[in-house]
Amino acid sequence: LTLDGKTYSLPVIEGSEHEKAFDIGKLRDQTGYVTLDSGYKNTGATKSAITFLDGEEGILRYRGYPIEQLAEKSTFIEVAYLLIYGKLPNQAELDNFSLQITKHTLVHEDVRKIFDGFPSAAHPMAILSSLICSLTAFYPESVSPDLSKEEIDLNVIRLMAKISTIAAWTYKNNMGHPLNYPRNDLDYCSNFLYMMFSFPTEKYEIDPRIVSALNKLLILHADHEQNCSTSTVRLVGSANASLYGSVSAGINALWGPLHGGANQEVLEMLQAIQRDGGDTSKFIAKAKDKNDSFRLMGFGHRVYKNFDPRAKIIKKAADEVLAALGIDDPLLKIAQELEQAALTDQYFVDRKLYPNVDFYSGIIYRAIGIPTEMFTVMFALGRLPGWIAQWKEMRENKEPIGRPRQIYTGETERDYVSI
Ligand code: MLT
Repeated sequence: LTLDGKTYSLPVIEGSEHEKAFDIGKLRDQTGYVTLDSGYKNTGATKSAITFLDGEEGILRYRGYPIEQLAEKSTFIEVAYLLIYGKLPNQAELDNFSLQITKHTLVHEDVRKIFDGFPSAAHPMAILSSLICSLTAFYPESVSPDLSKEEIDLNVIRLMAKISTIAAWTYKNNMGHPLNYPRNDLDYCSNFLYMMFSFPTEKYEIDPRIVSALNKLLILHADHEQNCSTSTVRLVGSANASLYGSVSAGINALWGPLHGGANQEVLEMLQAIQRDGGDTSKFIAKAKDKNDSFRLMGFGHRVYKNFDPRAKIIKKAADEVLAALGIDDPLLKIAQELEQAALTDQYFVDRKLYPNVDFYSGIIYRAIGIPTEMFTVMFALGRLPGWIAQWKEMRENKEPIGRPRQIYTGETERDYVSI
């Protein structure tokens, strides 16, 4: 598209709603050249009917349902069903989905042998991505590109079920604690908390307020359309790689600090402020000073130009969890002061540097006793239904293998000269 002497390349997919809305012919007549760039097909402009995100308006919807309503009214398993199958389940469908997941939470004892080989200092994400990929070895039929709908469903169920057991074990490994096997009398989130925090020597009481907060956190992280890990899952899956292999690749992408590490950075920033004496006004001033390299972590978002819709919900959940548990944590006090400054100080208001989802999620995780090394694992646990839905959609649409476009910037032509 040529406008005011400048040429722009539009990521418009042939036959898409986008294309119809643009009315390419009319645009061409009015403005000059229009390029239909099919190279964007599997990268920049993937078609998807799963998650709608409007960064200007701060809108996030899963399959058309506002995230606020889902976080308020649903459980994580209900939202997982919605993302994966495209509709909210009726009671019978939900009961069956939950039952199937519960039945598959045990992992093969030989997976445990691999797990036992990891050093206790191993990062939980290294164990998680390895063991999720190892499921391809335990279920070799999962690598077939021609699976029936029922076989895909079984892989989906296994993955949803086993990830929570493996995730809880990664924590136990770091702590050097004995492992807990899943309890089939508990719902998804309660079972996860039980596997994380219970000891054989103590009676463990599952706190319903923590279960509710965890459901919300996982729902809020369940999908966020095309980002680094999600497009990785689609791209790897587009080569007909198995669901387990594709999701394992997504876990590695999420592990990158620029993607999944944001809430860990928030906690580390709060710790640095605490070590410095805890004076938040000093750090607010540093954040405003252009010549200072200090940056407030957990504020603003690359996509949202307004308040991240997830942050509004999670702020309420954080307030509730902190009040209910009566936590007196100096780090959380620092967080509350920074939040107050960002919401009221004109400098931050003008720049729309609102606290984002990562700011609050780290606070809740800390309040419920989840250490920072586990934050990305919690993100992966929440994001799994989104990854599955995106992988399934790409396969069901029979999308071609992804091949990101390259612009060559190297030498044009060189003659070989012998040394
Ligand atoms: C996400 O939830 O995936 C993140 O906010 C990252 C992103 O939007 O790229």
